Amino acid sequence: MGDLGFQLAGSATTIPRLGVGTWAWGDSKVWGMGSYDTSLTEDTIGEAWRASIDMGATFFDTAEVYGAGESERIIGRLLAGDPQRAAKVQIASKFFPYPWKINVRSQLLKSLRASLERLGLEKVDLYQVHGPVSLRGHGALAEAMTAAHSEGLIGAIGVSNYSVRETRSFAEQLSKRGLALATNQIEFSLLRRIPETSGLLETCRDLGVVPLAYSPLGQGRLTGKYSATNPPPSTRTFSNYPMEKVDEVVRVVRELADAHEATPGQIALAWIMAKGAVPIPGAKNHDQATDNAGALKISLSEEQVARLDEASLLKAGGLSNRFWQHG
Ligand SMILES: NC(=O)c1ccc[n+]([C@@H]2O[C@H](COP(=O)([O-])OP(=O)(O)OC[C@H]3O[C@@H](n4cnc5c(N)ncnc54)[C@H](OP(=O)(O)O)[C@@H]3O)[C@@H](O)[C@H]2O)c1
Repeated sequence: MGDLGFQLAGSATTIPRLGVGTWAWGDSKVWGMGSYDTSLTEDTIGEAWRASIDMGATFFDTAEVYGAGESERIIGRLLAGDPQRAAKVQIASKFFPYPWKINVRSQLLKSLRASLERLGLEKVDLYQVHGPVSLRGHGALAEAMTAAHSEGLIGAIGVSNYSVRETRSFAEQLSKRGLALATNQIEFSLLRRIPETSGLLETCRDLGVVPLAYSPLGQGRLTGKYSATNPPPSTRTFSNYPMEKVDEVVRVVRELADAHEATPGQIALAWIMAKGAVPIPGAKNHDQATDNAGALKISLSEEQVARLDEASLLKAGGLSNRFWQHG
């Protein structure tokens, strides 16, 4: 890692120390675009896109399943409408290996081509397996990724929600084929430290795999705008801990925010960067994007990281993340 970010193994792509998550872009089921949250529009998303890139958060994470492809379509329109900024970004998408996708090689290539079509790209910088739910072994998935790589459709290869054992095994399968595993995207924040306590972050370091931290703001909870008396919408099932416990964490995060003249969200993101992971916070508008990317300027001391460690929900995990128990 350097100030400029991380190089993705097996490719020439470098990503910054902080990226942007785009699950909410075009999604109405969880994030409410066009339904309960009428403030989220393609205009506000465009503002978030421009502000993020202009502040150095040039890495965008999407997936075929976000908004049933709408997140990728929106990014495609943003890329096409602004070639100058398009030249600066790195785009990651994901293949969802539903168990019924038995012929994983042809299904992955089909999904990837559809993603590229929606994005208007010939190649994505990073292509990830969304989660360890395939009925096929790691060898079959690695083989499918190898085919996509040799066709020149993807730069680097990643996984998501993989445990220590799964990460090692997938990296080994790629290595047998002359390729490298670049990333593992996992839920990691002050509300969920399992990737740290399970040894996953250490494994990633050993293997040269960049950990990408999703839901790094606890789906908005760590920004301090939600509380026990003002809980987030019930659709926010990641980091879904009792808000009384979250309030205690946020109280300490606020203390450090005051010391840095920063916002609580920026401190939560700076803590993740201090752990060597790349946070990919979702941003719905200009102000959120500016606030999140502002975390790139914050550097926490060892004492401050330790103070946050102490305040975090160290053992949390049982209640949240009902989909992904790994990582
Ligand atoms: N691989 C996986 O299985 C997986 C799973 C989950 C997420 N992800 C990825 O990780 C990304 C981020 O995770 P996430 O979206 O779940 O959670 P998050 O980044 O922790 O929270 C994002 C939400 O917090 C609020 N927010 C963001 N910045 C803010 C700010 N500066 N001030 C106030 N509120 C702010 C916004 O919602 P409100 O304004 O409505 O509160 C925003 O949509 C996703 O977009 C996706 O790319 C991957």
